Amino acid sequence: CGITAYCGNGEALPFLMQGLAKLEYRGYDSAGVTVLNNVLTTVKCKGRLKNLEEKLKDHDMTGHVGIGHTRWATHGIPSNLNSHPHTNPSNTISIVHNGIIENYRELKDILLEKGYSFQSETDSEVVVMCLDYFYEGDLLEAVKKTLNCIDGSYALCIVSTEHPDEVVVAKKASPLVIGRTEDASVAASDIPALLAYTKDVYFLDDLEMAVLKKDSITFYNKDGKEITKEMTTIPYDMEAAQKNGFDTYMLKEINEQPHVIQETLRGRIFEHSIVLDELKDVDFNKFNKVYYVACGTAYHAGLCGASILERATRLPVLTQVASEFRYNDPIIDEKTLCIFVSQSGETADTLAALKLANEKGCTTIAVTNVLGSTISREAQHTLYTCAGPEIAVASTKAYTTQLVLLTLIALYIADKRGDTVDTDLMEQLNNLPEYVSKLIDDEAIFENYAKTLKDKHDCYFIGRSLDYASVLEGALKLKEVSYVHADAYIAGELKHGPIALIEPGTVVIAVATQPHVAAKTISNIQETIARGAEVILFTVEGQEVSGVENIYYLPNINPLLQSVLVAIPLQLIAYHTACIKGCDVDKPRNLAKSVTVE
Ligand code: G6P
Repeated sequence: CGITAYCGNGEALPFLMQGLAKLEYRGYDSAGVTVLNNVLTTVKCKGRLKNLEEKLKDHDMTGHVGIGHTRWATHGIPSNLNSHPHTNPSNTISIVHNGIIENYRELKDILLEKGYSFQSETDSEVVVMCLDYFYEGDLLEAVKKTLNCIDGSYALCIVSTEHPDEVVVAKKASPLVIGRTEDASVAASDIPALLAYTKDVYFLDDLEMAVLKKDSITFYNKDGKEITKEMTTIPYDMEAAQKNGFDTYMLKEINEQPHVIQETLRGRIFEHSIVLDELKDVDFNKFNKVYYVACGTAYHAGLCGASILERATRLPVLTQVASEFRYNDPIIDEKTLCIFVSQSGETADTLAALKLANEKGCTTIAVTNVLGSTISREAQHTLYTCAGPEIAVASTKAYTTQLVLLTLIALYIADKRGDTVDTDLMEQLNNLPEYVSKLIDDEAIFENYAKTLKDKHDCYFIGRSLDYASVLEGALKLKEVSYVHADAYIAGELKHGPIALIEPGTVVIAVATQPHVAAKTISNIQETIARGAEVILFTVEGQEVSGVENIYYLPNINPLLQSVLVAIPLQLIAYHTACIKGCDVDKPRNLAKSVTVE
């Protein structure tokens, strides 16, 4: 979910709505706002923000104080009643919440006994009822008492008619950024929602609260003691978060890849060595094991990074999905290096896994794209991909920049451990932007491939070694934006089951870029062709192939960099399949870009 808050001299609604538009990537099942103007006026509805805009036309929403919410449903179906904001029975307090109140059933039972009745099925509504219960004239005190009762995660914004000149905010394990403009104090789940108004922000830490007034922000710790916080000025500006003439954010972000890869490399390769000052204090010789932990697309980048590091250092390297890692009692200690990959830096499972690794005494490194994100602050060492704001839910440029940064990290670690550094790989990294750019120029070819997919229900991706990570990502991209059922298999495993799925007309997308196994994948392709599959093959120039109709030859560069190259056609195939099918490419159904619940 995404939340916004405004308290200032201007009108609250324009800020709240533009902020929600910027936060829609965090969920778009429903949306709502409350504006305070002597009384609280709350308007909310199911569906996208545009539905809310329509509904707002029938209401007077003038007022200088307000809160807003865009929802990704966790407890309770997307519906008008389950939408936020939630208000107390006398309509004097209104709240928006991002996170999960884990003990809400318990609290609800207690409140029901005390005579409260509930409008929604959400966990969040208990927060406003608790506030109502505890309120005795001091809103901050009521917030403090409420937070003491709550287990789980929250970013909360609260307004009350009894305190018409302020918004109270609080957070634990869900992000919240506070900004100061010339004449207002504002808050939101993420920086893009603030950027049109200010670049001067404060990051609230867990268990902290703040009172936003039109001319001041006061911060408090969990005991209600006033504290001071440091202001951060955000470097990137609005323009980077706009579509710049592209029809969709996804296409814009695919096209930005040559530039952002260049940015990620900038200053990090110098005279045959890798410069990663962020890691200069780490003693890499002390580790006997490395873990890469992440979710979704970032997990696929982790698989590639892990493979490159393992080859370079001969250290055992494991990659695990964060939601598994955190509950698997992993065998980790001070001799374990844990690398957490997260575009947003806010994914709840990745954050929890990181906290676990910190507790167990591991050395932790975060690879993230968002400055000041929770994961960036929680990790002992943080490196940033320089992809700029990624808005489309399906990750593209963040993924390829993660691949690049993870390759740099692998080379750096190998060097620091005294292993032989693959200088060819290092040199070829610099050529990536140009190769990626040429691949994007071939968009029409990939659009044509997409045409063969438009009427298909299924598509299978196959690859071996590093290509397996690439096909996992290719299949994820296709299914998330076009809703074509897509699965990825290790090509060598086809014969152990998946080949039963192949029938005349089934599309198989194969990737065979790794020289030591390419011929083997290609013979697996023949097995699918023999059963009627329509194959699209990505391999490298010079590779011998026969009997495959659709072959795209990638430039024959260092095999460890092929994951970056093949990502481009696979992204464009997914993109065009979705467009041909009329899907909402930037906001696929049921998904959210940043998942701050487990
Ligand atoms: C969500 C997004 C995915 C993303 C994953 C991990 O599921 O829809 O695109 O890969 O979260 O996000 P992170 O921000 O941690 O990389």
